[in-house]
Amino acid sequence: MARNDYIVGLDVGTSKVTALIGEVDAHDKVHIIGVGTAPSRGLRKGVVVDIDGTVKAIAEATEQASRMAGFRVKSVWVGVGGCHISFTNSRGVVAVSREDKEIGPEDVQRAVDAARVINLPPDREIVHVLPREFIVDGYDGVKDPVGMLGMRLEVETHIVTGAITSIQNLLRSVYKAGLEVEDVILLPLAAGRAVLMPDEMELGVAVVDIGAGTTDVAVFQGGSLMFTAVLPVGGNHITSDVGVGLRTPLSQAERIKIEHGAASADGAAEEPSLDIPTVGGQGHRAVSPKELALIIEPRAQEILAMTVDRIVRSGVAGNIPGGVVLTGGSANLQGLVDLAARELNVPVRLGTPQGVQGMTDVVENPAYAAGVGLIRFAAESLGGQRPMQEGGIMDSVIERFRRWFADFF
Ligand SMILES: Nc1ncnc2c1ncn2[C@@H]1O[C@H](COP(=O)(O)OP(=O)(O)OP(=O)(O)O)[C@@H](O)[C@H]1O
Ligand SMILES: [Mg+2]
Repeated sequence: MARNDYIVGLDVGTSKVTALIGEVDAHDKVHIIGVGTAPSRGLRKGVVVDIDGTVKAIAEATEQASRMAGFRVKSVWVGVGGCHISFTNSRGVVAVSREDKEIGPEDVQRAVDAARVINLPPDREIVHVLPREFIVDGYDGVKDPVGMLGMRLEVETHIVTGAITSIQNLLRSVYKAGLEVEDVILLPLAAGRAVLMPDEMELGVAVVDIGAGTTDVAVFQGGSLMFTAVLPVGGNHITSDVGVGLRTPLSQAERIKIEHGAASADGAAEEPSLDIPTVGGQGHRAVSPKELALIIEPRAQEILAMTVDRIVRSGVAGNIPGGVVLTGGSANLQGLVDLAARELNVPVRLGTPQGVQGMTDVVENPAYAAGVGLIRFAAESLGGQRPMQEGGIMDSVIERFRRWFADFF
């Protein structure tokens, strides 16, 4: 395989920047040949607030991945997230153009183009236009109308939009790190693509990516995205609760949470076996795992409650018989899956990236779900399996940004 056939996914997260180099083979396996991770210093709640810090982390992560793969990364597929992301559903309608009334790819494209004509405030931009279903002469539920006969073609789409400035600050950081952008991909969509089984996506399932600064929710049904939301809560909140609760520095709180934390105080040991350094370096204190879990539990419950609230308010709660798949680094919190199953009263499982070969010791971790999903999603876009999912951001934000950038230097 030629080097430029490899796909590079760049997940610029609140706690870490990950660059993954890989390809998807004919059997749908993702082969990873390069991994780079750098601590992220320039983001808050999934949004770039310090460009220089972000540029450094992006450069570090891609250099690491380049060294491992043995060639220089030139261009990347960038994951976009953050609370500025929202969506709207839109319908496009066209008359079938061919005389013999056979629906062609150009009719599908025109229908999608019609759907993307929506009223957007000037500070927002379309990230993806995702067709959910087609309707041919009033008959709904059509997955692929090409080749069918009909007079009137309609498409129901899910349009994901984001704040132009937030997307531009992210892209600006990528360009300043010396990289080209192939396209942007919505992170919750990528995470879903990495951890969900096709039958779950068909039946209806919610994937919840709990990171450091954000919790990304994506609901799929009938194989398509029904709902997306990015909530401003994540593992950082748990860490800061632990820091405040145990009066220990944040770096210690983070370590203690990861090594000894649990999402539920039920069954946690009551002996004060943990040695906690106190702030100001003034000594140590012995704390029980139960005391630690009692600090974590309410925040874990709050994150789950906010997630459910958004799913319920969006009206898609009845569409997830497949239950909830928890992913992202914070899904590693001991006992979180069980707590979620109890609180949400639906089947809950841990989402680890599926079908990965190479570097599995690193990548087969929920924290890498979005990164692996970027490679899968990009491969599908390139392979034409998702003909309309290029979303047009290439011809809008990125193009505009490239022009602006060219003028600037
Ligand atoms: N074993 C563990 N127990 C509890 N929390 C953990 C564990 N491992 C990782 N985490 C938490 O996961 C979070 C990092 O997750 P992830 O790498 O998915 O975030 P991110 O992608 O950088 O951030 P975001 O998606 O919010 O922008 C941190 O808050 C970290 O403390
Ligand atoms: Mg993330």
